[in-house]
Amino acid sequence: ERLPALLAAMPKAELHIHIEGSLEPELIFALAQRNGVALPYTDVEELRRAYAFTNLQSFLDIYYAGASVLLQPQDFYDMAWAYLQRAAADHVVRAEIFFDPQTHTARGVAMETVIDGLSRACRDARQLGVDAELILCFLRHLSEEEAFATLEQALPFRDRFIGVGLDSSELGHPPEKFTRVFDACRRHGLHLVAHAGEEGPPAYVWSALDVLKVERIDHGVQSTKDPALMKRLAQDGIPLTVCPLSNLKLCVFPQLEQHNLRELLDAGLVATVNSDDPAYFGGYMNANFLQTFAATGLDAHHAYRLARNSFEGSFAEPAARRRYV
Ligand code: ADE
Ligand code: ZN
Repeated sequence: ERLPALLAAMPKAELHIHIEGSLEPELIFALAQRNGVALPYTDVEELRRAYAFTNLQSFLDIYYAGASVLLQPQDFYDMAWAYLQRAAADHVVRAEIFFDPQTHTARGVAMETVIDGLSRACRDARQLGVDAELILCFLRHLSEEEAFATLEQALPFRDRFIGVGLDSSELGHPPEKFTRVFDACRRHGLHLVAHAGEEGPPAYVWSALDVLKVERIDHGVQSTKDPALMKRLAQDGIPLTVCPLSNLKLCVFPQLEQHNLRELLDAGLVATVNSDDPAYFGGYMNANFLQTFAATGLDAHHAYRLARNSFEGSFAEPAARRRYV
């Protein structure tokens, strides 16, 4: 078969990967031992068996627990380096990596520890042929005040991340909650993105665009419910960072066959394929491409378009983008 080979080998950008979601069970246990952290699971198999999610929140509870083993800069480095090696193997040449500092600072880990380990791995990724950058995400289930405090803690390291995002529990935490934080981030020249329309309604995608003024929408798959929104996304060329295996595992779609990626592409949207939390959802970039194409009957034209969309949607300089393809 030529299509799987094309999907695997084509150069691509990953625009939606939470680095804490790349932490494999084996590394969770290794770090727990290295740091003397007790886990509520006896072994890797028991932990993996807990990865049976019914919605976003059921995943987030386990995802935040897994991150509790991260304490030292080297832990963050090792986690990111493992992801970057997987990315390189999947012909990812550009990665824009989310991290959730509040998951760590809430446990007494310093912002500097987090950013130091992650940014060193991103720098070293050049050796792998991966151009990697960081995007700091605010946890939307926490307060505006806590987001502002996080921004303050991160500003001394302003040159080590290119933008900010908004993640965690979507329902009940609309984008508007963070209007002033995003205004401040815009004044600092940061790129702006937000998760919207993963489980939440099209109204959250509208407010991410019109109130937070984000440049990309993470997920956005609920947008197909609102024809006016689809028109807006197409006209403004707003990239959607779609994560098919994540949507399957979090029951956003009952089966991959029902995923609306084709509908998004056919409507002319700048949709992309991404892994979200690959250690939890059963696949890195190429697994997302291969399984989604097999399930939905997308073809080589779609493959080419998705690769092109990933670079067009990236925050890489235009000169660098031309080098990737
Ligand atoms: N944090 C990590 N993965 C996430 C997702 N899919 N949605 C919201 N927050 C997240
Ligand atoms: Zn995500």
